[in-house]
Amino acid sequence: MKGQEKEKLWGGRFASATSSLVEEFTQSLDYDRFLALHDLDGSRAHARMLAHTGIITKDELQQILSGLDRIQNELEQDEFTWNPGLEDVHMNIEKRLTDLIGSAGQKLHTGRSRNDQVALDFRLYTAAALQEWQQVLRELVQAMLDQAEDHRETLLPGYTHLQPAQPVCLAQHLLAYARMFKRDHERIEDALPRVKVSPLGAAALAGTTYPLQPEQVAGHVGFEEVFKNSMDAVSDRDFVLEGLFIASMIMMHLSRLGEEIILWSNPGFGFIILPDAYSTGSSIMPQKKNPDVAELVRGKTGGVYGRLMVLFTTMKALPLTYNRDMQEDKEPFIEAHRSGSSSVRVMAGMLQQTVFDRERMLGALKKGYLNATELADYLVSKGMPFRQAHPLTGQLVASAEARGLGLEDLNLETLRDFSGLIEGDVYDVLDYQHAVQRRVTPGGTGPESVEEQIRDIKEWMDKKNGGSV
Ligand code: ARG
Repeated sequence: MKGQEKEKLWGGRFASATSSLVEEFTQSLDYDRFLALHDLDGSRAHARMLAHTGIITKDELQQILSGLDRIQNELEQDEFTWNPGLEDVHMNIEKRLTDLIGSAGQKLHTGRSRNDQVALDFRLYTAAALQEWQQVLRELVQAMLDQAEDHRETLLPGYTHLQPAQPVCLAQHLLAYARMFKRDHERIEDALPRVKVSPLGAAALAGTTYPLQPEQVAGHVGFEEVFKNSMDAVSDRDFVLEGLFIASMIMMHLSRLGEEIILWSNPGFGFIILPDAYSTGSSIMPQKKNPDVAELVRGKTGGVYGRLMVLFTTMKALPLTYNRDMQEDKEPFIEAHRSGSSSVRVMAGMLQQTVFDRERMLGALKKGYLNATELADYLVSKGMPFRQAHPLTGQLVASAEARGLGLEDLNLETLRDFSGLIEGDVYDVLDYQHAVQRRVTPGGTGPESVEEQIRDIKEWMDKKNGGSV
């Protein structure tokens, strides 16, 4: 019994073994094994600093570095043997290191606690995840941009209350989403400097007696900042919560896009034809082509929001500093990372290959009398007060509807029965393309504004793809 307990790196003061139930309950390998490569990087940085300050020798440093490289190799080849009895990723790796290189390995943990170690590992993981999200967000914006460029002149109804409202060009609709995902990208940019703060050197909670140089460690792992308060350093999980909030925002945006894809692929709308590669069929109804990808993205949104709440609730009222509750931080973030990044990626792929049906969208404009506002504005331009123009246009719509026609299909005589102000130039006004072209205000759906928006997003993309983020 004692022998088994000596396996544990903290087993010294224990006389009897941990219950297997407790071992299983307390271990965190299911999730923190995903931090393994970051744990190695953190350890390399710590060891270099220890050697630089003379706490370990150059020779010991070399042994540690080659041992860590070997472990990395084992991990990458899937040859590393995980031992749940060793609780977590940190102790599994440290134990393997000492098995490999002996006493030099036992010096690695000098001046370090798992409390600052796990905080560093998780900050490295979170920063990498956020940067990956930026990458996939750019892929998604690129897909939006490509489609927008092809559909500058494609018209469809713009909706309010999900009722057809005014004609817009498809580019304008897609660019609205591009703005959302650009903002998400910017939110990450803003958050990253708060993630990339090295907590190593805080030790358990109070700092340490060894002459550590935390800035060195930060430099080695590519972080520019170092913790300013050791107690905050080991107990802060704000960076994870910010990541989960950003993931939630991305999913909210994606779910809106997903919902529109679901609606638009419904034969009632028929605005889009989904690529076969991104749709699924029914096991019983041969005619079906289902938008499962968009539905799953919509569905996964709940899970991501939930995980934000999970961690908020875990952190609520936790006294300083580290508490074991905090071990529960990895599952929500790692799962949100998985579903979030795959959702963005799959939506980008689907959008790239989606075919828009211009005829169906134009048909929906006609059915919805989306040039009614234009007619009212026309009457106003001829001198009729708006409060008269509005109901008169309404009567015209009702009359056209009764005949199964669009406003533009009514002949001049019929139109003039309603108002002598109407003349031949009205047909220009009733033309949908013209209606869109006349929306000349900045940011509106008119062609100049859309061109400007495309330019703006392109410029931003070029900058981001070229420069570092
Ligand atoms: N597995 C732990 C976690 O993820 C590592 C830190 C444990 N620290 C401790 N003093 N028990 O939070």
